[in-house]
Amino acid sequence: MTISSEGTTLDPWYEQYASRTAGLSASEVRALFAVASRPEVVSLAGGMPAVSALPLPVIAASMERVMSTRGPAALQYGSGQGTPELREQILEVMALEGIRAGVDDVVVTTGSQQALDLVAKLFLDPGDVVLAESPSYVGAMGIFRSYQAEVAHIPMDADGMIPTALSERIASLRAAGRSIKMLYLIPNFQNPAGVTLSSERRLAIIDIARSEGILIIEDNPYGLLWFDRPAPAAMRSVEDDGIVYLGSFSKTLAPGFRVGWALAPHGIREKLVLAAEASILSPSSLNQMIISDYLAHADWKGQIDVFRGLYRERRDAMLEALEQHLPDLTWEVPNGGFYVWVGLTEGLDSKAMLPRAVKELVAYTPGTGFYADGQGRQHLRLAFCYPQPAEIREGIRRLATVVRGEQELLETFSATGPIPAVAYDPHVAAPPPNIG
Ligand SMILES: Cc1ncc(COP(=O)(O)O)c(C=O)c1O
Repeated sequence: MTISSEGTTLDPWYEQYASRTAGLSASEVRALFAVASRPEVVSLAGGMPAVSALPLPVIAASMERVMSTRGPAALQYGSGQGTPELREQILEVMALEGIRAGVDDVVVTTGSQQALDLVAKLFLDPGDVVLAESPSYVGAMGIFRSYQAEVAHIPMDADGMIPTALSERIASLRAAGRSIKMLYLIPNFQNPAGVTLSSERRLAIIDIARSEGILIIEDNPYGLLWFDRPAPAAMRSVEDDGIVYLGSFSKTLAPGFRVGWALAPHGIREKLVLAAEASILSPSSLNQMIISDYLAHADWKGQIDVFRGLYRERRDAMLEALEQHLPDLTWEVPNGGFYVWVGLTEGLDSKAMLPRAVKELVAYTPGTGFYADGQGRQHLRLAFCYPQPAEIREGIRRLATVVRGEQELLETFSATGPIPAVAYDPHVAAPPPNIG
C-alpha cells in the first residue's frame, strides 16, 4: 500500500478512490479558515465579504415576502437553468459592465464556483492544458486539478496578463503536442494579484484566443467593486461566441445565498444546463426568489456603492499600514476587489513564515496556493475585505514584527544554512492541517 501525504491507512477505502481524487487536497486558504476564525487572530487570509454591512432587515423583508406570497413555489424544485425572473435581472446586473445578452443565454448556478466546475467538466480531459494568469485563483486551480488538467501560468504585470507571453506559451505548448482547452482569466481586481487587465490587452487577448480557437473563461465576481474608476468593459461585451462569462452575487450581495451564473454561447449553454441538471437537478428556488425580490425592492446599486466605500477605506488602511511598517516590501495598488499581493524581500518564504505569523496572531495566505507549479514562496496575499480598518492596521503591525524577525534570522543564519522551522504552539493556534 502506498501512502501519499494526503492518504492514510486509517481510511479503509483509500485504495479505491478514483485517480482524479489525487488532485483533491486541502488548499492553504481552506485550512486557514480554521486558524483564522479564532478571535485573537487578525485574519488577512480569507476573502470573506463584509456581510454585516448589508441591510439585514431589508433582506429579511424579502425572505418574508417570498414565503408569504410564493412559498410553495419557493420550496419546490425549479428549472435547471434558473428562474426566468432572476435571469432577466442578471441581464440588468451585467449591463452595468457593458454586457448585452438574452435571457436564454444565462444559466443560474450554485455560486460561480459551480459554473466553473461545470465548464471544466464539459471541456477538460486528463492531460488537457488550461492557460491561467500567474498567479491565479486557488479555487479554480482546484477544479482544473480535479479534472486532471494541467495549468500553464502566463505572466502578468500591473496591466494584467501579457499578450505576447500568452502567444509564446500557446506556441510552445502546441509545439509539444499539448491540447489547450481554455484560457481562464479574472480580468478585474484579480484574485490574488489585485491587478486589472487593461482595455487594450483585453482586445489583444480576445484576438489571440479567437485566432487560436481557445475558449476564454472570463471570471468576474469583483468587477462592480471598483474604488477609483470603473473597470474597463467586460471582455464579453466585445466578444460573445468565444467567451463563457461567470458572474456571482457572492461579493455584491452575499455568498451565503450561493447564487452565481454563467453566460455562455448557445451550444455550450445547452450542455451546461444538462450538466447542471445531472449534478444538482436545479439551483435553489428559494434563494433565487429571495435575490429576485431583493433586486426588485431594495436599492441594490446603492448597496454596491456602500460596499465600494467600505472596501476602499479598508484598502487604504492596509496600504497606509504597509507603507508605514513594511516599506521594503512590494505591491501593486488594487483599484477594487479584496486583495493586495505582496512581494517579500529576497530570501523570505511566505509558507515557512506562516506559523510564526500565526504565533504573532496574524494570518495571511501564502503565495504558493495560487500557483500550480510550486512558485509563490516570495509572495503572500492580504485580504482587506473583512477586518475593520483598525484591525487591519494592527494586523499589518504584527506582520511587520514577523517579517523583521525573519529578516534578522536570515541575516544571522544565511552563512550557516536555511532558517530552522518553528513548531506550532497549540496554545496559540491550531496548526493548519496542510501547512508544514
Ligand atoms: C475569482 C473567483 N472566482 C470565483 C469565486 C467563487 O465565488 P462564488 O461564491 O460565486 O462561488 C471566487 C470566490 O472567492 C473568486 O475569488
